Amino acid sequence: MSQSFVAGLEGVVAAETRLSRVDGQKGELIIAGYALEEIAPRATFEQLLYLLWFGALPTAEELTDWQATMAAQRAIPPATYTLLEAIAQQNQDPMLALRMAAGTADLLDETSGDLRQEGASMAAKLPTIVAAYARLQAGQSPIAPNPALSHAANFLYMLTGDEPRAEQVRGLQTYWNSVVDHGLNASTFTARVIIATRSDLASAVVGAIGALKGPLHGGAPGPALDMVREIGTLSRADEVIRAKLAKGERLMGFGHRVYKVRDPRAAVLAEAAEALFATASEADKALYSLAKGVEDTAVRLLAEHKPGRNLQTNVEFYTALLLHGLGLESDLFSPTFALGRIGGWVGHCLEQAETGRLIRPKSRYVGVVGRRWGDI
Ligand code: ACO
Repeated sequence: MSQSFVAGLEGVVAAETRLSRVDGQKGELIIAGYALEEIAPRATFEQLLYLLWFGALPTAEELTDWQATMAAQRAIPPATYTLLEAIAQQNQDPMLALRMAAGTADLLDETSGDLRQEGASMAAKLPTIVAAYARLQAGQSPIAPNPALSHAANFLYMLTGDEPRAEQVRGLQTYWNSVVDHGLNASTFTARVIIATRSDLASAVVGAIGALKGPLHGGAPGPALDMVREIGTLSRADEVIRAKLAKGERLMGFGHRVYKVRDPRAAVLAEAAEALFATASEADKALYSLAKGVEDTAVRLLAEHKPGRNLQTNVEFYTALLLHGLGLESDLFSPTFALGRIGGWVGHCLEQAETGRLIRPKSRYVGVVGRRWGDI
């Protein structure tokens, strides 16, 4: 029986999940039963990980244990630092550094085969890698993790050496909670494919980072902010955006494979960014209001450019603003996305391992047949 080929697997259901439900027509995102708008601005990231990996929010006692378990595993192997130093000497992109170093993070871990345990170790160590690399690249010494701080506070602390303010920690947690899982996106599918071969969790995470690194997936927020900066003042927005579209460029931070209305994460992140920018410098306040104007112009011009496509703001646009508001350089945006999305990757690996089924679709041969060997 001939089966149809679906480019990009669009519309193909390739997994069942209890982790998140994405309704692209209504613009709704449910995270393990909770509406995104309800849980993302309230939960800590540790609570979200527990929810996704154990199926329910932790009790107070479980949360204390879980926080301690994660905080105790933040140190990375000395060999990982050596590798990061070598990568920094080449001044490579932080996302490339994360992809290279993540594969060494479990070097000193005992192989347990327990995916939750391996997941906790990876999720605890990746922020240490990202922060250490950022500092090495800037010619500074890495800062050791502080187990007394929460996962989010510790990441910001390892970047700057200063304990972050409560609103900064809240902003980062809301961001990570908003991007923690999103159906069968490309990096999550990659993680599932890898774990389905009964490979180890670190391999699944490294593969997922590789998929996230691409500009059509997790690489958009840096360029989204660049566009706002390039526009500079709202009166230029129309002209600059029209010129980009005329050249066939894609506007980063707009359009989505699933959402045909505004990405609900954009609203949650816009609110979080607004709260953060309330106490920001005048320059950052101006940047935030410029971005809101640019968003309106971009959506209007995309509707003219591609009528009927419903190209709306996606998560990356306000990610860029929020992470900028947290003091992160734009080349850290994609690695910081990975630090949140690892929650979904591990959750999906747990689900995939439950089914035990190897993921192995088919391809249809469209090449020639009947060629004969001939010596050169
Ligand atoms: N700017 C300009 N045109 C666009 C944009 C955009 N942002 N998005 C889509 N289009 C155009 C496409 O060129 C295409 O035109 P065509 O039919 O003439 O070829 C049409 O709209 C439909 O787009 P598709 O590529 O079919 O949409 P798809 O669902 O495959 O792509 C994607 C979704 C990759 C996100 C796309 O919208 C895009 O490239 N956006 C910019 C990058 C971006 O913001 N990525 C982050 C996504 S969110 C995330 O991954 C976490």
